[in-house]
Amino acid sequence: MKNHIRLGVNVDHVATLRQVRGGTTPYPSVLDMVRKSVKGGAEQITIHLREDRRHIQLHDLVLLSKKCPVDLNLEMAATDDMVRLARKYKPEWVCLVPEKRAELTTEGGLNVAKGFRKMKPMVEKMQMRGIEISMFIEPSLEQVEASYKIGADAVEFHTGHWVLLKGAKKEKEWQRLVNAAHLAHASGLRVHAGHGLDYHHAKLIRKLPYLQEVNIGHSLVCYALEDGLEASVRKMKKVLKGS
Ligand code: PXP
Repeated sequence: MKNHIRLGVNVDHVATLRQVRGGTTPYPSVLDMVRKSVKGGAEQITIHLREDRRHIQLHDLVLLSKKCPVDLNLEMAATDDMVRLARKYKPEWVCLVPEKRAELTTEGGLNVAKGFRKMKPMVEKMQMRGIEISMFIEPSLEQVEASYKIGADAVEFHTGHWVLLKGAKKEKEWQRLVNAAHLAHASGLRVHAGHGLDYHHAKLIRKLPYLQEVNIGHSLVCYALEDGLEASVRKMKKVLKGS
């Protein structure tokens, strides 16, 4: 039997579209899109509450902490403010990510080895509330080892660089992912992956040893537009015709 890979759907960019108009429109509704994702088979919903609040807002976290029908995975920076919010709203999972204000998206993995002393008590504080913790890291043996030592439950490998690379460089990055996955599994950590995954790379990532979960956002929201715009235009034409 093939191993089951859990799908976490990241709905950040549903909120991006809403926030483009300053959050003044009732659409798109993050909760409706969460429900549709779950209907489609999402086993987890992932949101990133960024410090600059560029997409997901605090009210989204508050609502989803009550109404999300599947596990909620909160991506967040390792700050005292975010740890306080996580302990208050208790998502099933927290994924600790690095955060830079100027970046377009999460550009690299967390340096767990460097931030170890600051992050260890944060990890413990959240786990004491029953929250499971994953560390969003580059597929490096050093970072896997630090994630194990810090007491994380899982590592999520940043697949963004691998997705963009080509040829021999892509093969080399894949080998790094494979080696890191072996070490994570041997250390008792769950193996997750995410960033930049589209249909093509989702097919390839299935071959990563011990992979238990992927978190996918941007491509899914883009595919939803590609698959859905024609029907929406057709509906608008009908409205304009008064039919
Ligand atoms: N996993 C983590 C930790 C992320 O930061 C992101 C992006 O917010 C994703 C997964 C999803 O990446 P994408 O939107 O490129 O699918």
